[in-house]
Amino acid sequence: MSSISADHSAAAPAAAKVIQPAWVRIVHWINAVAMVLMIMSGWQIYNASPLFNFTFSRSITLGGWLGGALQWHFAAMWLLMVNGLLYLTLGLVTGRFRRKLLPITVDGVVGDTKAALTGKLSHADLTTYNYVQKLLYAGIIVVGILIVLSGLAIWKPVQLQWLTAVFGGYDVARYVHFFCMAAIVGFLVIHVALALLVPKSLRAMIIGR
Ligand code: HEM
Repeated sequence: MSSISADHSAAAPAAAKVIQPAWVRIVHWINAVAMVLMIMSGWQIYNASPLFNFTFSRSITLGGWLGGALQWHFAAMWLLMVNGLLYLTLGLVTGRFRRKLLPITVDGVVGDTKAALTGKLSHADLTTYNYVQKLLYAGIIVVGILIVLSGLAIWKPVQLQWLTAVFGGYDVARYVHFFCMAAIVGFLVIHVALALLVPKSLRAMIIGR
């Protein structure tokens, strides 16, 4: 009995070493590149027909003009969609989403937000996400699905008119697409800042440990 538990405790540290499996790291960084390309080319497309009374500075857009930006947007779209579908499939099939992102409780989120704001949130165990991380990651996955679907709805409003109708029409789908982009940019600012504040989490997303 004692030798079994001794074996177990000896094996545990080695097994606990992998914090982010390789597939998560690969799809995460492909997603990050695709998202940045989509956002920067999207801003250039927006500038050709702005929804609001502002445009994005050319210095942060991609594509040079409407035609060029559309080429970038549609090229990166395939990367984002195929990679995103792979992440969703593997996340569901391996049980990762259930294990790492659920459950999300109001008490948990409130408690961890308070702890974070008072500097008491522990980052000792990187293998489990705290409730704020769970909420942000689950939320951004939903926003990621919404931005692709609303994008398809405004790209093919004739062929996919049922999808465009689900959003309440072309004009509404355009606003949904824009606000999803704003949510992703907001997420990205917080997400990157937190990753830099806890550099060992960034290391784990690069080398796994
Ligand atoms: C380029 C900037 C980015 C950096 C530096 C970065 C960094 C990280 C790090 C360090 C983690 C580890 C999680 C942790 O311990 O909290 C992580 C996880 C995650 N990131 Fe990012 N990230 C970036 C871009 C993005 C983008 C653009 C998205 C989506 C729009 C995203 C979505 C996620 C999600 C959903 C997870 C959880 C993955 C899982 O556990 O399955 N990240 N990121």
